[in-house]
Amino acid sequence: MSLFLCPICAAPLTREGQAYRCPNRHSYDVAREGYVHLLPANQKHSKHPGDDREMAAARTRFLDGGWYAPLRDALCALAAERLAPGGALLDAGCGEGYYTQGIFSALQNAGKSCSLAGVDLSKAALKKAARRVPGAEFAVASVYRLPVGDGAVDLLLDCFAPLALEEYRRVLRPGGVFLYVVPAPRHLLELKEILYDRPYENPEEAVAYPGFDYLDIVPVTGTMAIRDSQSLLDLFRMTPYAWKTPRAGVERLAALGRLDVTMDFRIHVFARQSR
Ligand SMILES: C[S@@+](CC[C@H](N)C(=O)[O-])C[C@H]1O[C@@H](n2cnc3c(N)ncnc32)[C@H](O)[C@@H]1O
Ligand SMILES: [Zn+2]
Repeated sequence: MSLFLCPICAAPLTREGQAYRCPNRHSYDVAREGYVHLLPANQKHSKHPGDDREMAAARTRFLDGGWYAPLRDALCALAAERLAPGGALLDAGCGEGYYTQGIFSALQNAGKSCSLAGVDLSKAALKKAARRVPGAEFAVASVYRLPVGDGAVDLLLDCFAPLALEEYRRVLRPGGVFLYVVPAPRHLLELKEILYDRPYENPEEAVAYPGFDYLDIVPVTGTMAIRDSQSLLDLFRMTPYAWKTPRAGVERLAALGRLDVTMDFRIHVFARQSR
């Protein structure tokens, strides 16, 4: 049984060979790379189509460089601690599956057989994710309209993806765990100092989201001693600054070639309240 539901009739989907099918005979082909397209046609032209191939490739290179391994390790530890055997984990806005893959291995190593699924709007990213983690299932879908049943998820991860609170509340079972990764005050500050005349720090916030209780806030911090301009530019391209930085700032960064950059994350750990 799949965690995914039919986007047309909301019946459960079952994977049969190279297709997912629902009891009402709707059928969705699995792409060569192993993901399935479950985005309804009327949502295909959303304002935010997800990351393009270039952005996904930059993030893949940077993440594969291991710079964010401390964050991945922390997420793996939390998933192994919080998810019971047989549980279902959804990686919302999973990108190219760097964290999904880490969590998949961590759960296996912990002897927990869980089901793992990831959704993202970006086909380019999902191609990579599906290849990385053949044991998980991946769908092109929006976090704002997850093809997943009410209360079907035991642990939901949102790592730098849009926050679709209403949907997350719907798909998490009461008591289910929500891991929300956010940038903390000093995250990438040195990078911002190069890009902008007046860099600002991110606010440190603990927001009381309706329907969720705080369990913990886990800090992940460190310094990345980046010594090549490719990695610096890749890091830049995977941030929101890539959309809005004046050309002069990008040129300053490209000319640098080396920089010590702070990573400063918080993993906000919530439990879905019982109704
Ligand atoms: C900053 S990336 C993070 C990816 C991954 N979680 C990671 O940390 O490596 C944000 C991701 O959210 C995806 N995205 C943007 N809007 C989305 C939406 N409405 N539904 C699903 N994914 C979305 C993008 O395509 C991109 O892969
Ligand atoms: Zn159907």
